[in-house]
Amino acid sequence: MTSAAPDRYAVLGNPVAHSRSPAIHARFAAQTAQAVDYGRVLCPLDGFAAGVRAFAADGARGCNVTVPFKFEALQLAGRASERARLAGAANVLGFDGANPAHWWADNSDGIGLVRDIEQHAGVPLAGTRVLLIGAGGAAAGVLGPLLQAGAAEVVVANRTVAKAQALVDTHAGLAATQYARLTAQTLARPGEAFNVVLNASSSSLAGAAVPVPDAVLRPGTLAVDLMYGPAAAPFLTWARAQGATARDGLGMLVEQAAEAFFLWRGVRPVTAPVLAALRAEVDGTA
Ligand code: ATR
Repeated sequence: MTSAAPDRYAVLGNPVAHSRSPAIHARFAAQTAQAVDYGRVLCPLDGFAAGVRAFAADGARGCNVTVPFKFEALQLAGRASERARLAGAANVLGFDGANPAHWWADNSDGIGLVRDIEQHAGVPLAGTRVLLIGAGGAAAGVLGPLLQAGAAEVVVANRTVAKAQALVDTHAGLAATQYARLTAQTLARPGEAFNVVLNASSSSLAGAAVPVPDAVLRPGTLAVDLMYGPAAAPFLTWARAQGATARDGLGMLVEQAAEAFFLWRGVRPVTAPVLAALRAEVDGTA
């Protein structure tokens, strides 16, 4: 007796060799006994559409999309979730054959961050004051779900304030329905003593210092960098020095993957052991 071939998925990006998504999805598949084969596809910078079409035409069922193709991914698919449209980007696609008109697009980044904060870090977002540093793709992906989680106030602070304001404008309707205060600020004067401070800027990749004043933190603030590894280190060191609780983006990575797995398979993996195993690998203890 032969068993059916596994359903195929992959992460598409450029670069993509560093991606931990295959290892995460392999763990999810083993845990839930789902027949899933998850790989990596490097697409040329001008070849995302061709790459994803070829992957779908080859019988794949879906893919994750990473930098720099999340914006293009949203445009390609025939239908998109509300949270993906609000983010202006998609990190999950589902295929039904090779015709993009029959594909769907979603964005699991923001719900991934919310679940990491609430379930793994143990901080309920309802009623909190949140500072979101940055207004690029990473910030756009998480703002909607933060508002939906019930944050009382979100301040978006960015080097280019006009970009923060644009993000505030696109989310103003959601903020109003959630009775949340949503404003754009400069990095120099974003406000003080937030409950949660999120670094969604890429300033550390540029080798720059943490771009906001110490006063945004107070002892006990949860400070999360959406990146992990060396890119997150300067922000986390700074946050700990102020008495904040520092957290990198590894939990968000696992949770966004779990949401994608659920969207594709209809099964929700248990994330805590997968996060613990990944943490050990990243910290070099496994
Ligand atoms: P991503 O997809 O990772 O969000 P992005 O869309 O290029 O990448 O956005 C990068 C973010 O980091 C932006 O908010 C950017 O600020 P600007 O909008 O003013 O460009 C921010 N950023 C990058 N380098 C920075 C630095 N040295 N200091 C402060 N903010 C920085």
